[in-house]
Amino acid sequence: MKKLALLQVGLGGMGSWWWQILSEHPNFEVIGAVELNDEIYQQFHSMGFPIFKNFLDGLEKVHCDAVLICTPNDTHRPYAIAAMRAGRHVIMEKPLATNMADARSILKTSQSSKRICMICQNYRFGPVAMAVKQALDAGVIGRVEYGEFSFHKSVRFGGWHEQLEEPLLEDMAVHQFDMLRYFLGSNASRVMAKSWKPSWSWYSGNAAAVAAIDFESGCSIAYSGSWVSRGAETSWNGRLRLVGEKGEIYIPDDDRPFYVLAETPDQPVPIEIVPYYPTGHHGLLYAFYKALQDGIRPPTDVEDNINTFAIGMNAILSAKSNRWVSVKG
Ligand SMILES: NC(=O)c1ccc[n+]([C@@H]2O[C@H](COP(=O)([O-])OP(=O)(O)OC[C@H]3O[C@@H](n4cnc5c(N)ncnc54)[C@H](O)[C@@H]3O)[C@@H](O)[C@H]2O)c1
Repeated sequence: MKKLALLQVGLGGMGSWWWQILSEHPNFEVIGAVELNDEIYQQFHSMGFPIFKNFLDGLEKVHCDAVLICTPNDTHRPYAIAAMRAGRHVIMEKPLATNMADARSILKTSQSSKRICMICQNYRFGPVAMAVKQALDAGVIGRVEYGEFSFHKSVRFGGWHEQLEEPLLEDMAVHQFDMLRYFLGSNASRVMAKSWKPSWSWYSGNAAAVAAIDFESGCSIAYSGSWVSRGAETSWNGRLRLVGEKGEIYIPDDDRPFYVLAETPDQPVPIEIVPYYPTGHHGLLYAFYKALQDGIRPPTDVEDNINTFAIGMNAILSAKSNRWVSVKG
């Protein structure tokens, strides 16, 4: 099978991870890169690898099928739009953009150019999330009516991450909001949020937040999160409880999901994690590859993902205006 050629933009934290995965991938080959950092640029240049400092130069000179964007969030709109206008498909790190107007212009460009723009919501492709989704779809707890989702970590990124105005709601919570949409099979209808900067925080913006989120399915979720946790941290998947008419599903901190039925609350039933392949980033790549081969939309493309992104953006609007805000993609 022919490998798809990629131009990789950004070889920093996440970019190095992608580089490693792609270096031994059966379906993709990175044939060029763009990176502003001089040290990284020189390292690749000295190996004779086609690398550029200017994105448009890279786009013009590297004859790729798709562009992988793993640069800071404020580059997502200009890079994704330029790539699609140049006829390339896009696979891009979350979050989709930095505001709703930019997100909508990426969506419009994807539709008018007929190019795919898939966003890397890798958490929903994780084995735990996939197993929980399968249990929910099998109806083990019936219709989900409410739940709680918490994510608490103590992480020092340094750099641009720590300068964001809303590092939790605009950058990280997008994973939890996307998992909720995936689990519930529903978009959010409205959100009420509060975000703040704990006194000990090393982030310049609001690194902690709580939110009440209503979904079109009728489910209500209580969300809480922090990048500057002071005690026991949750797993990266977060801690989740979903409550349905027949019972509850849990993802506890150890990532081993289970459910309990209302009639037998003291008898937890483990949810089997089927060794799916591919999962996580491999799952994303598989879905992207399949979409390009079969001419179909992948899950988490911009048309879908704008509904995830809208939860975070409207949560920020709610936190700023101290009121419920309706969520529209
Ligand atoms: N999916 C996930 O779980 C996950 C995890 C971490 C980060 N991310 C996302 O990945 C993206 C990158 O984050 P990161 O943590 O790798 O950041 P980073 O700062 O570690 O790396 C970014 C790289 O991009 C380069 N760069 C910056 N501006 C550029 C430009 N205009 N053109 C070309 N190169 C440029 C930098 O020199 C750096 O090497 C962000 O959107 C972030 O939200 C996703």
